[in-house]
Amino acid sequence: MQNQQTYNYKVVRQFAIMTVVWGIVGMLVGVLIAAQLRWPELNFDVSWLTYSRLRPLHTNAVIFAFGGSALFATSLYVVQRTCHTRLLSDGLASFVFWGWQLVILLAAITLPLGITSSKEYAELEWPIDLLITVVWVAYAILFFGTIMKRKTPHIYVANWFYGAFILTVALLHVVNSAALPTALFGAGDMMKSYSAYPGAIDAMVQWWYGHNAVGFFLTAGFLGMMYYFVPKQANRPVYSYRLSVVHFWALISTYMWAGPHHLHYTALPDWTQTLGMVFSLILLAPSWGGMINGIMTLSGAWHKLRTDPILRFMVVSLSFYGMSTFEGPMMAIKTVNELSHYTDWTVGHVHSGALGWVAMISIGAIYALVPKLFGREAMHSIKLIEIHFWVMTVGVVLYIASMWISGVMQGLMWRAVNADGTLTYSFIQSVEATYPYYTVRLLGGIMVLSGMFIMAFNVWKTVVGSKPATDAIPAAAH
Ligand code: HEM
Repeated sequence: MQNQQTYNYKVVRQFAIMTVVWGIVGMLVGVLIAAQLRWPELNFDVSWLTYSRLRPLHTNAVIFAFGGSALFATSLYVVQRTCHTRLLSDGLASFVFWGWQLVILLAAITLPLGITSSKEYAELEWPIDLLITVVWVAYAILFFGTIMKRKTPHIYVANWFYGAFILTVALLHVVNSAALPTALFGAGDMMKSYSAYPGAIDAMVQWWYGHNAVGFFLTAGFLGMMYYFVPKQANRPVYSYRLSVVHFWALISTYMWAGPHHLHYTALPDWTQTLGMVFSLILLAPSWGGMINGIMTLSGAWHKLRTDPILRFMVVSLSFYGMSTFEGPMMAIKTVNELSHYTDWTVGHVHSGALGWVAMISIGAIYALVPKLFGREAMHSIKLIEIHFWVMTVGVVLYIASMWISGVMQGLMWRAVNADGTLTYSFIQSVEATYPYYTVRLLGGIMVLSGMFIMAFNVWKTVVGSKPATDAIPAAAH
């Protein structure tokens, strides 16, 4: 009977803790590969320790294990709280948690072994892809099933964004992962497959997936987080509910078309590239609409930024979101892309979104959630959150500023020509010139990682000896 009247916080607690654990693991690998780029000796001549195998381990760990756990934790919390109902099924919730952990474990084993489909952010081979599909369908049933049994009259906007994220990721994953396993055709290797698409079409499908993984996994889901946790933490209503609805429809209808900006000046038909560029430019408007809606939610509560480092995490994350969604459209312009593509500028851009936006909003949300989930008034130490905030902010700035400078430098060096038409610099000269920036990026990465250890300590101190919270569901809707 008690189950009927309380929220299911167990699965939220599990995912919240794993967010911190996977954050540390993923960023540790990030720091290692950043060091390998500076000192190639750190590849140690061991196949599973080489940069090429650890890089996809890093991206998968930070996006799907760290970011994914933060999304599962917050979406399963928000959907219950805003719908005034318990999750559809406790069993399904457990299945989603353990299924996702199994996917992560399999990724952590297969990627260092060199088992890969070689599609960026979709490297896992087909048996793991099938497992992902099953877990994802279970998650969709859990989320939408909970919405269907809601006791509130309407569906709060955060759930719209989480819902779009769940549906779109399902579509992206199934279409992009379509492959022919060689074992089925007598070639033997169980863990090897070839993409179902040929040549340039494969590239197009891959970057339709890749860009929408950014748009829906790394953006829409985290916007759901923003729409719940920023108003909660600021104790203010969302600045404009109407803007949030416009933001939602504009964002989801534009994102889908921007993928070809990853393939400028390739074998992709020229008109497709131009289409991708134009839609990327249009995307600036909904992105900034959302950012402004988040930041303006603080109007009348700005003073809270002085005393609340959790709110500061959230607002700074929105600033990074605004910055990277301005930078992205600029980089999608073909003439700018001519300079930026294949350089470290892209890596700087990625991390201003990934660390500045995704990681910071997740960290803010987890700091806000943990005390609620473990029946505590607040986190163990606000001072430590404050220190985490500064260590991370300075680390992120070091990371992205060094990559901007090295990226523009690389682009300029590669295109420089002498009067007789020969190249001014060899490629290796550009690599040598990049080393100082790689050192600064490593330093930034170490700072960000240190922040995660501070967080883990703080979470541990908050959780240890606590009693799991069991909040009652309000009897009637309002
Ligand atoms: C301590 C923190 C981190 C460090 C030190 C770090 C370091 C790195 C390094 C060295 C690379 C390879 C860059 C190259 O190919 O030249 C990389 C790539 C990447 N990282 Fe991170 N990273 C960190 C955190 C994150 C987080 C939190 C995310 C996402 C939520 C993320 C997402 C990515 C992505 C998507 C790429 C591929 C970029 C591309 O293909 O252009 N990283 N990271």
